[in-house]
Amino acid sequence: MNILYQSILCQSEIREINIKQFSKDELFKYFPESWYPLCLSSEIHKNEVKKIKAFSGHLVCYRGENGKVGVLKQFCPHMGTDLSNSKVVENCIECSFHLRKYNPEGRCTSMYGHNNIPKNAHTQSLEVIEKFNIVFVYFGTDPKFSFPTFSRVENQEEYYSSNVANYFLNTPYQSLLFNGFDTHHLGCIHSRVVSDNPQFIAVNEFLLTAEYSMKVLPNRFYDKIVQRINTKENHVKLESWGGNFLIITLKDTKDNILITSLPINEKESRIFLTSMTSKSTNLWTNIKQYFRLKLTTILGVEFLKPDIKIIENMRPEIRGLYNELDIGVIEFWKYWDKLPRDKNFQDSFFR
Ligand code: FES
Ligand SMILES: [Fe+2]
Repeated sequence: MNILYQSILCQSEIREINIKQFSKDELFKYFPESWYPLCLSSEIHKNEVKKIKAFSGHLVCYRGENGKVGVLKQFCPHMGTDLSNSKVVENCIECSFHLRKYNPEGRCTSMYGHNNIPKNAHTQSLEVIEKFNIVFVYFGTDPKFSFPTFSRVENQEEYYSSNVANYFLNTPYQSLLFNGFDTHHLGCIHSRVVSDNPQFIAVNEFLLTAEYSMKVLPNRFYDKIVQRINTKENHVKLESWGGNFLIITLKDTKDNILITSLPINEKESRIFLTSMTSKSTNLWTNIKQYFRLKLTTILGVEFLKPDIKIIENMRPEIRGLYNELDIGVIEFWKYWDKLPRDKNFQDSFFR
């Protein structure tokens, strides 16, 4: 058994969580394959190239004249020039040294003074999806699961979403993740009382769900507002995809909330929060939805505020967990440990 988990004590016994795939070092060095929010769409303009710190390295992100975003390995595969010093030409990124062009899929489309492009001229890229004013990348060679769907959005291509709240945090990404499943802390810092038997289901290797009810205690002004506009007891459904992509659905509301995070390096991360719902053809419905989504996001941020303060400089550790109280964290870490990580891909992408 991995040493990380030997210290998980459950009142009178050692709870064994068998770690099959990774050593403790690997568990924290490699990131699970998933859809990650890289930046806001508004942060990357047409014909702009940016170097972005992520996954303990750097990525090069650019937007072509056609609006399409490409995310590539930082260094040119020819002789290692930093591609973030390049410019955008014909919807490709053009290396500033020998002027090779790479499209958003990483394919070399032209070589100065040469017509036949050899196979090894291509570079590595990440699959990109832009939604909710966020640029998402799949961190892996090929997506092993599709971009998650949102139960409150009828047609996944047509939606309304709120503005995105986002924060840079001095918190290791791993410390952020279990927060959503830590039902114990809902009572401690969020004035919520969780029902006795939260249900956790590992639907597949990428998806863990949790369902529980929680009562809202009117301890703060914020809680009183939630009670008034929402309900005194909420039925909550959480869906965690790839560890970092958390969709929240409350039974009595019409929107989904997305909380998702990006690892920047061992000590820093960035968190994004937004809410979304179906698009309507009715103007009045749209106006109501606009304000409702705004409020949902504001309340979501208010809910997160106590966490953001506490998780500053937190270390990713689990010790002394107790069955009755920490079941959510235990279930989450069992799932998180088993999430696939492509070590070869990650080593080669930052080499
Ligand atoms: S180093 Fe980029 S084209 Fe030569
Ligand atoms: Fe929290």
